Amino acid sequence: MEKKKHFSRTLVTTALPYANGPVHIGHLAGVYVPADIYTRYLRLRGEDVLMIGGSDEHGVPITIKAQREGVTPQDIVDRYHNIIKDSMAELGISFDVYGRTTSEMHRQTATEFFRTLYDKGEFVEKTSMQYYDEQADQWLADRYIIGTCPRCGNEHAYGDQCESCGSSLNATDLINPHSSITGNVPVLRETKHWYMPLDKWEPKLRQWILEEHKEWKPNVYGQCKSWLDGGLQPRAVTRDLNWGIPVPVEGAEGKVRYVWFDAPIGYISNTRELRPDDWEKYWKAPDTRIIHFIGKDNIVFHCLIFPAMLLAHGGYQLPENVPSNEFLNLEGDKISTSRNWAVWLHEYLRDFPGKQDVLRYVLTANAPETKDNDFTWHDFQARNNGELVAILGNFVNRAIVLTHKYFDGHVPAAGDLTDYDRATLAEFQNVRDTLSENIETFHFRDALKDAMNLARIGNKYLADTEPWKLGQRRLEQTGQHRRPCRRQRGGTA
Ligand code: MF3
Ligand code: ZN
Repeated sequence: MEKKKHFSRTLVTTALPYANGPVHIGHLAGVYVPADIYTRYLRLRGEDVLMIGGSDEHGVPITIKAQREGVTPQDIVDRYHNIIKDSMAELGISFDVYGRTTSEMHRQTATEFFRTLYDKGEFVEKTSMQYYDEQADQWLADRYIIGTCPRCGNEHAYGDQCESCGSSLNATDLINPHSSITGNVPVLRETKHWYMPLDKWEPKLRQWILEEHKEWKPNVYGQCKSWLDGGLQPRAVTRDLNWGIPVPVEGAEGKVRYVWFDAPIGYISNTRELRPDDWEKYWKAPDTRIIHFIGKDNIVFHCLIFPAMLLAHGGYQLPENVPSNEFLNLEGDKISTSRNWAVWLHEYLRDFPGKQDVLRYVLTANAPETKDNDFTWHDFQARNNGELVAILGNFVNRAIVLTHKYFDGHVPAAGDLTDYDRATLAEFQNVRDTLSENIETFHFRDALKDAMNLARIGNKYLADTEPWKLGQRRLEQTGQHRRPCRRQRGGTA
């Protein structure tokens, strides 16, 4: 093992969910619950830690949703930002700030960021051919084009991505393209855009990830390696769209920022919103540990594109780790917003009032840490009854009942320890140490098993030592046993 680096503070960021729908259990298991566990753990240790969240309110998915409902994009994001924010708070996801990318602070931060790169000459301008829908009289973002995937033949691939084989695409790659607005065959027109030459940053990114971060999770490291080995291409950071942050340079009228060149800066603007006076140390001091919690479809953006943006800007720290999870399926089927196949958080909270911890427990026990996993209601029930109630609940209940019955609700000072007591305490310490190690290395399922093992050890200790017999003898000696028991309803241990 290499020597552990010392950090004075930690900045935890959580992928900003698109405000085009509520969040579901897949988001929670992949990002928010693990990030919350990690942050709460550091807080308990007394460390300086901030947990940053917020809604991603730009981008094509939002304009598509607005168009479909006949409302404005702002209506859409206002609606879902609030649903998401409130439901996460109710679940107990303990953000220090939950901002939004339509805020004034974000617009200002993102605009400054763009200007800096522009003034440093970090962009190249290029003209290209882009699809245009003549009937709708509008440019078509890649997402608005539907056609046949050149890799797998799926006839409903989007111009940016094929959801069937997972390839990321350009709209011009599609066979038989048509506009999702009018269904017409789009025409190609010339347009100008600003590009970030990612190829320029490739050697730095290779060194930083492939050499200096071999400890990253294999799924993350592997995806980065395959992108880097394929060679990075310049990437357009502007779009012909009317929803987003305007591009603050001449000749860019009517263009907005590409959403992935906007949203990650939301982490910075939300930090700034929270800590206007000392936000910079969370981003720029070398003894800050930045951790991005994300889902696997976000890996390239957080490990290659955002770091390239930060390098091009200068002065920012790169993340120390990017723990990314795989996907959670529901009853054997892929979670899908468009097919409404999901357990939505706000609906869960309505249908299972007060059962936040059960959901957090099940999503952690079954988290898709190394492979896609399946959520089933049968498993939810089994874990609630067989683990939370039977093991943890049982332990807590017995400990509390005994303490009330024999010690008036106060934990008494320890008497002389037996060898068995000492062995049990040592076992507790060991489990606690592995639990810490597991949280610090982002193995939350294992950490949860450790936590449950503490309860198991406790239950075994109680069964082996039968402290109620000792307690009974003590009561008899002091003549207290004739007193009516005030805790009758708590049951016997
Ligand atoms: N909205 C994106 C998604 O849901 C995540 C954005 S993360 C950020 O996939 F870095 F851009 F903020
Ligand atoms: Zn495909």
